[in-house]
Order: sequence, then structure tokens, then C-alpha cells
Amino acid sequence: MLFHDVLVVGGGLAGLRAALAAAEKKIDVAIVTKLYPPRSHSGQAQGGINAALANNPKAADDNPEKHAFDTIKGSDYLADQETSIFMTQQAPEAIFEIEHWGCPFSRTPDGKIAQRPFGGAGYPRTCYGTDRTGHYILQTLFEQSIKHNIATYNEWEVIALAKDVDSCCGVIVLNLRSGELQAIGANAVVFATGGSGRMYGNSTNAITSTAFGVAMPYWAGVPLKDMEFVQFHPTSLYPSNILMTEGCRGEGGILVNKEGDRFMKKYAPKAMELGPRDIVARAIQTEILEGRGLEDAYVYLDLRHLGKAKIMERLPGIREITMDFIGLDPIEKPIPIQPGTHYCMGGIDVNIDGASPLPGFYAAGECACVSVHGANRLGGNSLLETVVFGKRAGASAAEYVKDKPKQPKTSALERTLKREEENLKQLLTSDGKENPFKINAELRKLMPEKAGLFRDEKLMTEGLAQIKALKERFKKIRPISAGRSFNFDKTWALEIKGNLDVAEVVMTGALARKESRGSHYRTDFPKRDDANFLKHTLATYTPEGPKLSYRDVQITKYQPVERKY
Ligand code: FUM
Repeated sequence: MLFHDVLVVGGGLAGLRAALAAAEKKIDVAIVTKLYPPRSHSGQAQGGINAALANNPKAADDNPEKHAFDTIKGSDYLADQETSIFMTQQAPEAIFEIEHWGCPFSRTPDGKIAQRPFGGAGYPRTCYGTDRTGHYILQTLFEQSIKHNIATYNEWEVIALAKDVDSCCGVIVLNLRSGELQAIGANAVVFATGGSGRMYGNSTNAITSTAFGVAMPYWAGVPLKDMEFVQFHPTSLYPSNILMTEGCRGEGGILVNKEGDRFMKKYAPKAMELGPRDIVARAIQTEILEGRGLEDAYVYLDLRHLGKAKIMERLPGIREITMDFIGLDPIEKPIPIQPGTHYCMGGIDVNIDGASPLPGFYAAGECACVSVHGANRLGGNSLLETVVFGKRAGASAAEYVKDKPKQPKTSALERTLKREEENLKQLLTSDGKENPFKINAELRKLMPEKAGLFRDEKLMTEGLAQIKALKERFKKIRPISAGRSFNFDKTWALEIKGNLDVAEVVMTGALARKESRGSHYRTDFPKRDDANFLKHTLATYTPEGPKLSYRDVQITKYQPVERKY
């Protein structure tokens, strides 16, 4: 049986950084990924990564404390404050580390790492490599993983956690090429499976970003935290919802409605297009809903005034995407955009060390909720979170395994393997008629409608009933194709089950939170309610549906006040 002291699941930024941290401590670590690391969704991150380096002449007095304040205010005061302060203090060192590993950041005329303005930030502090920052950092960390000889199981999809009596002891994994199911033992498992955006239809996320990564620990008894907070990126390309980076607005791009009006002056008179994402996304949607959008579906992101040279230098990827996908050159025409689901602020409940309540089980990156984004993440803070908390989780896992016996817990692993073989056999021999892909399509349609930018009791009650009905139908799906090699009929059936259960968590948490905070905006409760809801939601799996409980938010330095931009 395969065994590694630390096993990292996911080959994106958080996973690579976690594995490197363990390798730096001379621990036997391996990565298992359903893709290849350079194909991970982290590579789609465009605009940049935040750190208070004060390199931009307009940011001479920027510092980590100001970055922490912007992050906490941006989170609508739901982020844990000491954790956010830790992240922003670590940020400069994290960037210099990536720089020294060779990441080709864009540069200022005097050779420092270039920084651009991003939404909700008091200073231009987003370090960037044109508009391909995620791609550059991903390649850089991947190179490091090769340098450290980190074993990587590519195109192996983890389908379940294995538990001993009271700790995580490995995973069950499907080799996508051979179709073989097997157990891998580990003294610690670090999940870095990315976001769950694809339970929504209108998502900027890769199709691989399903909720399966958070569903597996949820099914194994690990709570999910703050899942009702789903971020809509203000500017995704119409109609495909491909990301049009916030860097477009950071570089001076403006938003206009069909009347040619720069409408952000009504919604965030000071920050304008560089308000935080929740406010800008709702502003765009309001313009569309009130009839000032085009074709009732989009408004314009106008870059033309930036001029050809700046667009070619700073936003070449954006131009390439608009040319390729809609045949539009942003040097000549404004880009049609609409809000698109982009990021899950919630995730697997972990502490500042990336440790979950299940001993031996860690998580980092978008699948985790260490709670630095609260109810609304600032653009540029997700890449930062991956490297800061990826490193921290990898180092903590390495510490945890130090004195553990270097061998798999065979009987627990074999028991779990058998269970999963039985589950798969049931899918293959099911006598139902329902098409799982149709169920998923219905889920992805209802989520933006019922748990979207504007929510209320009626919509969400309907949404929850629909999800429960889809879950019932999923029990009667048609048999899954028996093919062994790259049988995506099988893996998607598993992922869809994860989407359904996690969507239920989102809807249940959102219904229970009778207030508006950050990305969670309820037209029936339009105000933030600190007296009753300044708290994290925890959802624990039960076969009947999620059981909710709450935990206090860590408020240490900044008392919650009304957000104004
Ligand atoms: O707009 C962007 O480039 C996205 C950045 C982010 O989500 O942090």
C-alpha cells in the first residue's frame, strides 16, 4: 500500500506551497492531483497578489497594518482579526520568496515589483505579472516542487478521506488512467482542492472547480464554515463569464451603462470602480435589473481611453480573451460584462495553522476557511492566502507527523476502500433513470437565481426545496458507464453529489443568516446585524441535511463600523 508521511491533495498554489513547506522540513511528502499541477485553476488568476511593499509612488506610506484594516473592513468585519493581521504581516516575505524563486513579476521603472490599485484597498498594493499573475506564480512553485523531487500523482482523483478511530489516516483515490481504486496511507492529509464555484452556472471558475473537495471532509464529519458567502466578481465577460480582471479597473478602466453613464458614482462615490467586489457587483446588477443594462444582461467595461500601449503592456491576456471569445478588441470597443460567481469565502473549518477539528487533517487555499475573507474577499488576497496559509498548513502537518510511525493504518484504509468500492458498484448497477448531468445543470441554474447577488426568504426557501428534490432524484440516477480509463461519467457523478450537498449547506446557512453582510445581501433584511450575526456559521453533515451552529468572530483591534467607500 502506498504511504507518505504527508499527503497533499491538489496541485495548485496552496497545494504546491504546502508540499514545499513539508519538503523543506525533510518530510516524506507527495501531491495527488486530478489534473497536472500547471493545469490547476490557480493559473487562471489574473490581476495580482497583495502585499504592502509600498513600491508604487502613491503608496509610500502603505504598511501591513493598513492592509489588515482594508482586509477586515472589506470582509464586513466577519474575518478573524488576528489571522488577517498574520496574513498581511507575512505578505511581503511571501512575495519576496516567490520573486527569489524566479517569478517574472512586472517591474516599476526603477526595477521594483510593480503594484496596481485593486478594489477596497486604500493603496496600490497588488503585485502583478501583467494580467497572468496566477500563471506565473504557479509555474514558479511547480518548478520548486520539481527541484525538491516532490512525488506527484497526476490524474489521480481523491474520492474519500480515510479515518482511523479519531484521526485522518489517508485517502481513497481513483487512478483516472487505469480506473483502479486504491488507498494511500498518510499520517497527515492537507486538502488544497480549490473552490466550489461550479455549483453555480455563471462562474468564472474552471469546470474542475466543483464542491467535491469540500464535500469529502464534510461527509467525514469536518464542519464547513461560512459557506453562505459566495463572491460574485463584478466583471466577467458576457456571455461566457470568463474573468475580466479587476486589474482592468485598477489600470483605469471604467464601468458605463447603456446610457453612457458612469454609474458607480451613485454606489461608491469615493472609490468608484475600485469599491469592494460585493458593492460593485450589486451596483452592476442593479443597473441591469432597473433597465439600464444592454440586452437586460450586461454593462460595459471601457478600457479604450487607456490607449493601445497600456492595454498591450498591462492587460494583454484580457485583449487575447476578448478577441478569441467574442471577436472584440478592447482597444477599439468597450467590453460587455456582468457579475459572475467567482470565489467561496467559506470552506473547510481550519484554524490559523490550517488544522481542522479532525486530527491529521489540514486544509489551505480556497477550499479552506481560515477566515481572512469574512463576508467579502478583497481582490488579490486569495493568491496571498494560498502562499501564506499553504506554507503554514504544510509546516504544521510536518510538525504533526514528526513522531508518528511511518506506516499506513492498513485496516482502517482497507475498510474505507471496501466501502468506496461498494458505493461505486452501486452507481454502476443502479436501476434508476435520472440523468446526473441534467440534475447538475438544474442545480447550476437555480443557485444564481435563488442564492445569488440578491436573496430573500421566499427565493431561498424555494431554492432549498429544489435542492432537496434534486438530491432525491440523484438517488435514482441511471447506471454510470463502466469504462475504466478516464471515465468522467463516473467522476462527475461523484462530483455532482458533492455539489448537491454543499449547495444545500450554502442555502441553509444563507436562510438562517437574517441580515445583510458583504456578499450575502438579503432584500428582506437589508442591514448588517452585529447584535445577532457577528458570528461564523458552522455546518455539520447529517444524513437529513446540515446541522448549523455558530462561533464568535475574533475581534481584537478593529471594532465593526458601517462600511463606506
Ligand atoms: O480580478 C482578478 O484578477 C481576480 C483576482 C482575485 O480574485 O483575487
